[in-house]
Amino acid sequence: MSVVLAFETSCDETGVAIVRDGREVIANVVASQIDVHREFGGVVPEIASRQHTRVISQLTDKVLRDAGMPAGEGIDAIAATIGPGLMGSLLVGVSFARALAYAWNKPFIPTHHIEGHLFSVFLAEEAPEFPFLALVVSGGHTQLIQCSAPHEYEILGTTRDDAVGESFDKVARLLDLPYPGGPSIQKASANGNPEAYDFPRAMREKGGLDFSYSGLKTAVLYTLQEAKGKANIADVAASFQAAAVDVLLIKTRQAIAQTGAQRLIVAGGVAANKLLRERLQGELGIPVFVPPFAYCIDNAAMIAAAADSRIRCGAALPVDTPPQAGMSLV
Ligand code: KG4
Ligand code: ZN
Repeated sequence: MSVVLAFETSCDETGVAIVRDGREVIANVVASQIDVHREFGGVVPEIASRQHTRVISQLTDKVLRDAGMPAGEGIDAIAATIGPGLMGSLLVGVSFARALAYAWNKPFIPTHHIEGHLFSVFLAEEAPEFPFLALVVSGGHTQLIQCSAPHEYEILGTTRDDAVGESFDKVARLLDLPYPGGPSIQKASANGNPEAYDFPRAMREKGGLDFSYSGLKTAVLYTLQEAKGKANIADVAASFQAAAVDVLLIKTRQAIAQTGAQRLIVAGGVAANKLLRERLQGELGIPVFVPPFAYCIDNAAMIAAAADSRIRCGAALPVDTPPQAGMSLV
């Protein structure tokens, strides 16, 4: 039995959670900074770290009280996202968690953000067994990862430019839809025709399992410029979403053929996208595991789940691992 208190502050969400045995969420809070960053159309790093500092202490109190452990009784270990992410933001969570671990004399488990996303699927009722293929789709990452055993990863493909979530955010800005772009585009698409515009499916035949999303964004930009303000926003959003999701399906299918994967997991903020979930679950012919919606976007419960597995496997990263903005998973 292990109970992990975890912190996630890599970007614009302050997450604190307590999870038992890497599967059972006892308490979880996420304070989103969306409203603070919205007027800038994206995350402002300096503001993000200040905002984490402002709320992390109260959120921790709340989570401990929600869990019925107001003084940290019953906590076995403390984890925090160590990278990748915004350096100033990472430092807030890591320093806070380290100080608490020192004060309570508990082990500190530095945890990789993408590993957290991977382990978010274990917070669902139906969790996968290893090995599996993972499609990680977020604001910073678009990756196909072969996961042969816990903490044994091979990156099969990655984006050469923009991440898929980043392209949702940038296209939303072009369409004057609110930040973050993913949910806005999904909502606008509901009233649009996905076949209205034939946007490119980049690197369909080439590039191995790598992705490219900057051309798609540029195609949307040119379409809007040509339409001189007369484009139907819902149609553009729906056609963009169709193309973005199509590329994920094409490359995932290729990865399954290449690896013979028996099961797929999909994780990261874009895994909340309804069209993507439906298509992956309906078209691939292998079981597809997704995290509950609440654990797709950044949260600390997924960090606790990954840390729990590291403890269980005796594979925790060194306690003095420094925060790393560009930390690699392998
Ligand atoms: O995993 P996440 O919370 O943060 C990173 O690690 O980057 O992912 C955030 C990304 C944003 O780009 C956001 O627009 C996207 O996930 N996103 C979505 C949806 N919900 C969030 N993209 C498409 N459809 C959604 N429903
Ligand atoms: Zn993330």
